[in-house]
Amino acid sequence: MINDYRLYHFTNFTNFTNLIFMCGIVGYIGKRQAYPILIKGLQRLEYRGYDSAGIALINDGKLNVYKAKGKVADLVQFANQKDINGHIGIAHTRWATHGEPNQVNAHPHYSQSEELAIIHNGIIENYAVLKAGLIEEGYTFQSETDTEVLIQLIEFIKKSNNIGLPTAVQLALNQVIGAYAICVIEKSFPDIIVAARKGSPLVVGIGEDEFFLASDATPIVEFTDKVVYVGDEEIVTLQRGKELKIKTISNVEKTPEIMKLEMTLSQLEKGGYDHFMLKEIFEQPKTLSDSMRGRVNVDEDNIKLSGFIDNKEKFMNTKRIIITGCGTSWHAGLIGKYAFEEFAHIPVEVEYSSEFRYRNPVINKDDLVISISQSGETADTLAAVELAKAHGAFIFGICNVVGASIPRLTDSGCYTHAGPEIGVASTKAFTAQVTVLVMLALLVGKEKGNITEEFYLKCVRELGRIPEKIKSILNKSDEIAQFAKTFTYAQNFIYLGRGYNFPVALEGALKLKEISYIHAEGYPAAEMKHGPIALISQEMPVVVIAPNVGMYDKVVSNIQEIKARKGKIISIVTEGDVVVKNLSDYSISIPETEECLVPLLAAIPLQLMAYHIAVVKGCDVDQPRNLAKSVTVE
Ligand code: G6P
Repeated sequence: MINDYRLYHFTNFTNFTNLIFMCGIVGYIGKRQAYPILIKGLQRLEYRGYDSAGIALINDGKLNVYKAKGKVADLVQFANQKDINGHIGIAHTRWATHGEPNQVNAHPHYSQSEELAIIHNGIIENYAVLKAGLIEEGYTFQSETDTEVLIQLIEFIKKSNNIGLPTAVQLALNQVIGAYAICVIEKSFPDIIVAARKGSPLVVGIGEDEFFLASDATPIVEFTDKVVYVGDEEIVTLQRGKELKIKTISNVEKTPEIMKLEMTLSQLEKGGYDHFMLKEIFEQPKTLSDSMRGRVNVDEDNIKLSGFIDNKEKFMNTKRIIITGCGTSWHAGLIGKYAFEEFAHIPVEVEYSSEFRYRNPVINKDDLVISISQSGETADTLAAVELAKAHGAFIFGICNVVGASIPRLTDSGCYTHAGPEIGVASTKAFTAQVTVLVMLALLVGKEKGNITEEFYLKCVRELGRIPEKIKSILNKSDEIAQFAKTFTYAQNFIYLGRGYNFPVALEGALKLKEISYIHAEGYPAAEMKHGPIALISQEMPVVVIAPNVGMYDKVVSNIQEIKARKGKIISIVTEGDVVVKNLSDYSISIPETEECLVPLLAAIPLQLMAYHIAVVKGCDVDQPRNLAKSVTVE
């Protein structure tokens, strides 16, 4: 039984209510050249933002800082021909929140004397007050950033007290209000990196006589599997030839808790695919098997989910479930609602985290809040969890990234085990989230006696068959690529579905918007006549998810309505379907399955269609404009 979730629970999380932070940070100290490690690390973290990038290296008594607007590739070009030597360095990739994404605002930032350099992911809320004080002390500033204020403050404290860098960082952080993951290096001490965290994630990798630092474990995995997740308000000192040292900002020493990384390097590479997104779409038979491994036991006809077993009473006694999430995770939550209400007869509300956190929602002590997040770092979802926690609700997390902030903050939960998702548009994480939600709903339904043993068994067996069924859909990728070409002209798309497939329509539309920049709207099929029908013309492609389950006949009527207005119909049908197929311009068939599991199959051709349209349009599939994978900004 898989229950590694509890291992990652930490307490005393910060208050996230007003945080604005993004970006990826990476650091290295050891015997190797730092530059290639840091650049590769930045490329792995580019999903966190790609507006500007920078690097600081100490070599030969010099602290060199190179920065460039744009992607990491632009930084590499900029640093070409410069001194990129050094066995210690820090680097940063930015997603601009405040201040233009230009070279001056890019990190690292020097201190006034250029003795120190800092990278920072977070926001210093009281930077204006601190800055005013520093200006009085004669400090001047190059950028508009709060980060520069922090490094000047560290330098001021260090010089005025004549103390070492770790203590100066500690004293400075005691004056700071806000969130941070920072790394600081000092020109005259090339043997030490000081880093700290509050709110923003930070992981230390421990190698042989070397240390790595990063916003998540992806830059570290190829060098070591020993990691320490830095806790809130902790300062770490990485010193050549010494053990890792951790202290809190209130000066309490801590013993590092070393964990073993489960991630592998091959999971972070494209493995022969043109894009991560395509790789991740094709990984789904495996990732869903991984999500179910040790949980769905087809031989024993049973589901064992320790997240449920450990919290059975909570699930059985709750009067209401509130699901929170953003983007794709919110869509998965909607599918969860259909399943929980159908099987467990528990009322479910699905909330956008960003709305929920700000509107004084009614949260009761006996509510069960399910927080869904691929990254486990989404700022709004974290804040929603904080809020629900403050109201005394029990919080259950469904998360993909092991050790991320959400699993640390929630009371219990389940990992989705989909492996690292790099493509900005979520694919395999979505199907894994849906799988976990359906498993949970079936368990509660069975325990409550709301579903028959026979139905439960049918679903368990069917869950076991899903990976093979997905494989058969993936075989149609070339066929989908062919007809996708026909639709690159379109300015708009409508996606329609009913019941469990309404959220799938939303998700299909989101995929297309995200990566091909074509406007797309998902709608419940029957709602179409209350508005979107006015948009239908022969120019308008309408994607209809019409499997032979649920309200099939009603969906057929909806298709007739579109046909009558000359809309172009692309349908997702069950194998063997004739009626809808004959009404459609293009049709993709998926294998038959239980209604609650159809989203797992129907999502696949929609992911492939969005992918192929974006490729034909020449879009940057893995890093679409303006988006970031982990939205740690509210
Ligand atoms: C971003 C990503 C989406 C994702 C959403 C929520 O917008 O681009 O793919 O669905 O954040 O992220 P989470 O990590 O909380 O699931």
